[in-house]
Amino acid sequence: MENNLEQAFQAKIDREEKIEPKDWMPEAYRKTLIRQISQHAHSEIVGMLPEGNWITRAPSLRRKVALMAKVQDEAGHGLYLYSACETLGINRDTLYEQLHDGTAKYSSIFNYPTLTWADIGAIGWLVDGAAIMNQVPLCRCSYGPYARAMVRVCKEESFHQRQGFEILLTLSKGSDEQKNMLQDAVNRWWWPSVMMFGPSDKDSPHTARSMNWKIKRFTNDELRQKFVDVCYEQAKVLNVKLPDEDIKWNEERGHYDFGAIDWDEFWQVVKGNGPCNKQRVAARKKAWDDGAWVREAALAHSNKRSERLKNKKVA
Ligand code: 3HC
Repeated sequence: MENNLEQAFQAKIDREEKIEPKDWMPEAYRKTLIRQISQHAHSEIVGMLPEGNWITRAPSLRRKVALMAKVQDEAGHGLYLYSACETLGINRDTLYEQLHDGTAKYSSIFNYPTLTWADIGAIGWLVDGAAIMNQVPLCRCSYGPYARAMVRVCKEESFHQRQGFEILLTLSKGSDEQKNMLQDAVNRWWWPSVMMFGPSDKDSPHTARSMNWKIKRFTNDELRQKFVDVCYEQAKVLNVKLPDEDIKWNEERGHYDFGAIDWDEFWQVVKGNGPCNKQRVAARKKAWDDGAWVREAALAHSNKRSERLKNKKVA
């Protein structure tokens, strides 16, 4: 019986039909979606921290307003994704607990510090640029709620990338000090952004199955390559040098070859030993604890209200 259900499920996916919350799905499909969507949502929420650090120090009101709008968008992206994840039968408090106790991951990239204002531009250009590379195909994910959440996210992501690029373009036309700040930020954010796409395909335990289920439409390495090809051209406009001596056009492949990735660094950061992992998780736990009174008040209010409605019906 289960076999027929699995075959019917895969045939539906192969026909490019969306899987909806009430449809039958293999437990493994549900589990990997909960894993990926929850980590995606955690990444959006944790991603607010490095950028939020510069809202009070933005160099102008215009930059401050754009950065506030971006950080606020990220919160919204997190909420869409938590809602999409809840359609798979997991509740939001459990998701938060998994972030706080370390059982759920969030993107490695957010464990690096934002040391100068140029970092905010580098995050917009590189990190949101990488996120767009990865999220546009997710708009065609086989799971309906995830795909639909991505459509809205991607519309806002393009503003994020553009405001970051514009920050760097302004710096690239500024004083020598500003140009040096730009180059320093790109030196620090380039490789962690390349790593964001995940382990190479040969070392990825999930990619093959996620491709078969059309959760992923491209592999980690395919998206990484697209990212490098696009950024190399954009770096020329910024007159900034990517910190990789091995980047060079490969006519035969029709792509830029690039240098070796430091997978030790990547896995150390994923395992919790990055520059800011402890600080990020502590900030999220503090926000959760500080917000307890709001949750209790809202619950007390809603319980009181349902009590009143119940009494009204009885009377
Ligand atoms: N950071 C942390 N962990 C990572 C990672 C990264 N950059 N890349 C991979 N991993 C983890 C995976 O979660 C998996 O661990 P798990 O089994 O415990 O979950 C393990 O490394 C093996 O990696 P795989 O490539 O086999 O795993 P996936 O098939 O899940 O692919 C992914 C990884 C490409 C990140 C995929 O999960 C994905 O597309 N996620 C959704 C998109 C996302 O999270 N984007 C980045 C953050 S969002 C963002 O940048 C917001 C923007 O507004 C700033």
